[in-house]
Amino acid sequence: FVGFELNNENNSLTYDYEQEDLSNQIVINFSHVVAENTPKGLAAQKFAKLTERKTNGKVKVAVFPNGVLYAEGEEVDALIRGEVQMIAPAYSNMSELIPEWLILDLPYIFKDYEHVEAVLNGEVGKALLEKLQKHNIKGVAFWSNGFKQMTSNRNPLRKPSDFLGQRFRIMPSKALEDQFRMLGVRTNAMPFNQVYPNLENRFLDGQENTISNIYSKGFYKVQKYMTISNHGYLGYAVMMNQEFWDSLPEDLQQKIQEAMDETTDWLFSESIAINQQQLELIKSSSDIQIYELTDEERQQWIDFFQPLYEEYGERYGEKWIQEIQKLEP
Ligand code: LMR
Repeated sequence: FVGFELNNENNSLTYDYEQEDLSNQIVINFSHVVAENTPKGLAAQKFAKLTERKTNGKVKVAVFPNGVLYAEGEEVDALIRGEVQMIAPAYSNMSELIPEWLILDLPYIFKDYEHVEAVLNGEVGKALLEKLQKHNIKGVAFWSNGFKQMTSNRNPLRKPSDFLGQRFRIMPSKALEDQFRMLGVRTNAMPFNQVYPNLENRFLDGQENTISNIYSKGFYKVQKYMTISNHGYLGYAVMMNQEFWDSLPEDLQQKIQEAMDETTDWLFSESIAINQQQLELIKSSSDIQIYELTDEERQQWIDFFQPLYEEYGERYGEKWIQEIQKLEP
């Protein structure tokens, strides 16, 4: 047996880890930027366990959270160059590569969680992932985090005019930039790990993110107001280096895909629960003022952003907007 050595003196077997034959073990290095107690952080660990179990240890997934390997914005290049085998950035980070994905960032394009699941886990999601192929990227799945909320240090955000003159952090997505431009907000696209310090030092007035990111990175500690607006969705494109994927034997590809499908299904309900629990934790451990939009206010925001739909439909494909809206519950 590989790794075991017979000790002739006392006839016992000892296991020498140095000698363990790991030469055939395939390692998937998986880099991401969020904390471990988040939807993506937990899904990464679950996927790693399932993959190792299903492949009998032939494939190991080494997860690097919190941006320790690459900051947001460096990940995609690292994947394409093959320095890591797997990443799962927010799809908003990918729109320079795949402009059609901007449609997913239109405010209120998703009505509720069911709608998100139908789009991202269904045929539309599949067709959107296929667009990665021409960039030498294997799109494996869309993962979920949750709906984004607005936070600010300046004033409560109940109606569109409350945003005027503020400075917000955004992910690098033209749709997000346009959303805030309409609100009269100046934006800075900066990587996730720079958000907290820039909220703390007041360079930024506010930002949009999910409860789980607001909680796990402590944004709520340096913001006075939060509006539960559910105006946008934070989902992840789970991707592998195409050459690496193609180099895997078919049976392992199948097992990895099974592990991925199980993780993706699990994450859809788990992410909702995590965001709910962490909202309660924010409420009980801070004095941030939380405001929930009424139905009328929500409708006011929806109407306000309507012009973006015409503009983006013309530029990036009315077809995608229609395909998504067709799936509304
Ligand atoms: C962000 O930059 O706000 C998010 O994309 C971070 C993440 O990966 O959830």
